[in-house]
Amino acid sequence: MGGRIAVVADRIGWEERQLMKAAPDLGLRVEWVNDESLCLGHPDAQSIKDYDAVLIRSRSYTRGGLLATLAESSKIPTLNSAAAIHACENKLVLRTVLRDAGVPVPDFRLVVSRRDFAKALEQLPMPLVMKPVFGGMGKRVTLLRHPDTAHSVYDYVEDLGHAFEQACLVEPFLGGGSVRCFVVGRELVAAAEFESGGADWRNNAALGNRNRAAAHDPDILKIVNDVVNELGSGIYGIDLFRTPAGYLVNEVNHAPAFRAVASATGVDVPSVIGLYVQELLR
Ligand SMILES: Nc1ncnc2c1ncn2[C@@H]1O[C@H](COP(=O)(O)OP(=O)(O)O)[C@@H](O)[C@H]1O
Ligand SMILES: [Mg+2]
Repeated sequence: MGGRIAVVADRIGWEERQLMKAAPDLGLRVEWVNDESLCLGHPDAQSIKDYDAVLIRSRSYTRGGLLATLAESSKIPTLNSAAAIHACENKLVLRTVLRDAGVPVPDFRLVVSRRDFAKALEQLPMPLVMKPVFGGMGKRVTLLRHPDTAHSVYDYVEDLGHAFEQACLVEPFLGGGSVRCFVVGRELVAAAEFESGGADWRNNAALGNRNRAAAHDPDILKIVNDVVNELGSGIYGIDLFRTPAGYLVNEVNHAPAFRAVASATGVDVPSVIGLYVQELLR
């Protein structure tokens, strides 16, 4: 059994290198394909037609869903699915899809203007978090502690954000802990508590966080299962907040990093992904 897999990404990072290393033992050939030179659109796109599957690992949040849409249309098995990527890449869409399905998510307000921002400040108690609808790696995710400084922070959104960059979510700060759940297929393969590294309030691995293995307790398994029921099976980094009322889904990363979660848990994530891709090709 063999398979030629295209890892579509802007660059080869640690994760992509691990996938390439794990592949030969599983009878797979994993090759990096630069996401900037696919020129997809033709139904039999030359740049991907010789691959048995496409793994979308673009870090750019504008590219992944677009490339997945056309790869699927060229009838090449694509991970994650275009539908899942489109849901995950937009924090508002994801929250809405999950909430409508009964999956608990944080309360939030969509802020597209100064007036919305002022109303959100009235409706939700401080401290609050303001974050872009499209974003990742913690960028521009801002902690608002004081009403008297909030509007000057919003000046940057209003004056410097363009079009979609101005759309933000404002939500309560939930400080009860964060669990990153790494899912392959439908299974929770690794879970880790993420904590801020100390120098920054955010706990993104990209910002140098601390993390340790977390138990796969039944509440976590249930919420993960509910998320996968909505998005379909795939490869996801599901971020949960722990609150007195139970776990809430903060966001789902559709091209998740896994270095932190693999080192915290000792799980051989690249091999698990390779086995899953192998199954898909059967
Ligand atoms: N409502 C919140 N309460 C507490 N911390 C938050 C909240 N929203 C975001 N954070 C912190 O900011 C980080 C980045 O926010 P997140 O929503 O995950 O966006 P990104 O896609 O940029 O990772 C989170 O990992 C968490 O540490
Ligand atoms: Mg995040």
